[in-house]
Amino acid sequence: MNVNPSTRVEEGPLDVPRIRADFPLLARTVHGKPLIYLDSANTSQKPSAVIDAVDNFFRHTNANVARAVHALGEEATSAYESTRDKLARFINAPSRNEIVFTSGTTQAINLVAYSYALPRLKPGDTILVTQMEHHANIVPWQLVCERSGAKLKVAPINEAGELIVERFVELLTPEVKLAAVAHVSNVLGTINPVASLSRECRKRGIPLLVDGSQAGPHLRIDIRALGCDFYALTGHKLFGPTGTGMLWARREHLDAMPPFFGGGEMIREVRFEGTTFADPPHKFEAGTPNIAGFVGLGAALDYVERIGFEKLAAHEGDLLAHATEAMRRVPGLRIIGEAAEKVPVISFLIEGAHAHDLATLLDHEGVAVRSGHHCAHPLMQFYGVAATLRASMAFYNTFDEIDAFIAAMARVRKLLA
Ligand code: ALA
Repeated sequence: MNVNPSTRVEEGPLDVPRIRADFPLLARTVHGKPLIYLDSANTSQKPSAVIDAVDNFFRHTNANVARAVHALGEEATSAYESTRDKLARFINAPSRNEIVFTSGTTQAINLVAYSYALPRLKPGDTILVTQMEHHANIVPWQLVCERSGAKLKVAPINEAGELIVERFVELLTPEVKLAAVAHVSNVLGTINPVASLSRECRKRGIPLLVDGSQAGPHLRIDIRALGCDFYALTGHKLFGPTGTGMLWARREHLDAMPPFFGGGEMIREVRFEGTTFADPPHKFEAGTPNIAGFVGLGAALDYVERIGFEKLAAHEGDLLAHATEAMRRVPGLRIIGEAAEKVPVISFLIEGAHAHDLATLLDHEGVAVRSGHHCAHPLMQFYGVAATLRASMAFYNTFDEIDAFIAAMARVRKLLA
C-alpha cells in the first residue's frame, strides 16, 4: 500500500494532551464546568486540521467540481477527488472507482437497498439483519421489502450483546438475497466477526453489506480481509464534517446497479429520448456534492493515519477497561452489552433513575452522554428497556475524564434519590 508522506505514522506512545490540543472544542466549558465529551458515537469532535481544511477551501479554492476548466475548478476537483484516493487507501479498496461518495451511511445503505436489492427481490425472498442494527440498517430494507413482497429476518444476539454466529449461519437459507450487519454496534460497542460472517455468506452466494458507521473511528478497516460485498462509512463520526460518507462496493455490483438519483454529474449524454450514464462511481453521484465537506474528510483521514490506528486503538482499549471497571463498582449500575470484543462504547442504566433525567443532570456537570433509544428500537425491546444512557469515548478522552464522570454520577444520583 502506498503511504503518503504527510500521513506517516508518528513515533512513540499516544500523547493525549497534545491530541486534545488539536481539538479546540474540547477546551470549552458547559454550564461553567469543563466539558467531558462522551458522545462521540453520536458525532465525533473535529481536529483543527479538519476545521482549517474546510475554512481554507472556502477562502481560497471554492468552485464547483468536474464542471469548470478554470484554475479554481481544477483545484477544487483535485482537492475533492483526493479524498476518494484517501478513502480507498483507508479501507484498502482495490480501486478508487469503487468508492461512491454519499452523505453518510444512511444514504449509502439506501443506495444499495433501492439500486441493488429492490430490482432483485420478489415475494418469498428475505433480507437478513441482526437484532443489534440501528435504524439506518433496518428501515431501508423494510421499505424495499414492502415494495417487493420480500421479508426481513433477524439473527439473534445473546444477553452479552454478541451475535449468535451459529444462528446467523443457520438463517442463511437460499431465499436470503442479502445480509446486512453492523461492523460495530452503536449501542453495545460489540465488534461483529465480519470476516467469518462474510465467508459464510460467500459460500452460499449471498452478498453481505457491512454498516461501518461505528467501526470507522476505532478499527483499521480492510475490506479485502473482511471479504464483504458492500461497506458503508460515515464521515462525521470519523472526525470529519457532517454530510459526508461513502459506499464501497465490488465493481461488478456497481456495474450492475442502475443509478439511484438522476441529475447532473452522473450522465454521459442526455437526450429527451433517453440518457446514458457515467461509469461508477460518478453514476451514483448526481448533483453538486458537499465539496468542502469531503475536503475536510480527507484531512480527517490524514489526521488519524498520521497518529496511527494501532496507537489510537491501544489507548481506547485502556479507556474502555478503565471505564468498565469503574462503572462496575457503581452500586445499582447495569452495563448493557458486555461482549468480549468491544470498542469504547458503554450503554448503562442506573436503578431508580430515568436515563433522560440522569443525562440532563450530568449535562449540568459538564458531562455529555447520550440518553434514549440510540436509533435502535428493536435492541431496546430485546433488553426490555425504553432507553439507556450511553458513554461513548474516542482517543481524545482521558482517564481523568472517566473518573470525573463517575464522580459526577455519584453527585447527581443523590439529587434523584
Ligand atoms: N448517531 C446515532 C448514535 O448516536 C446512530 O449512535
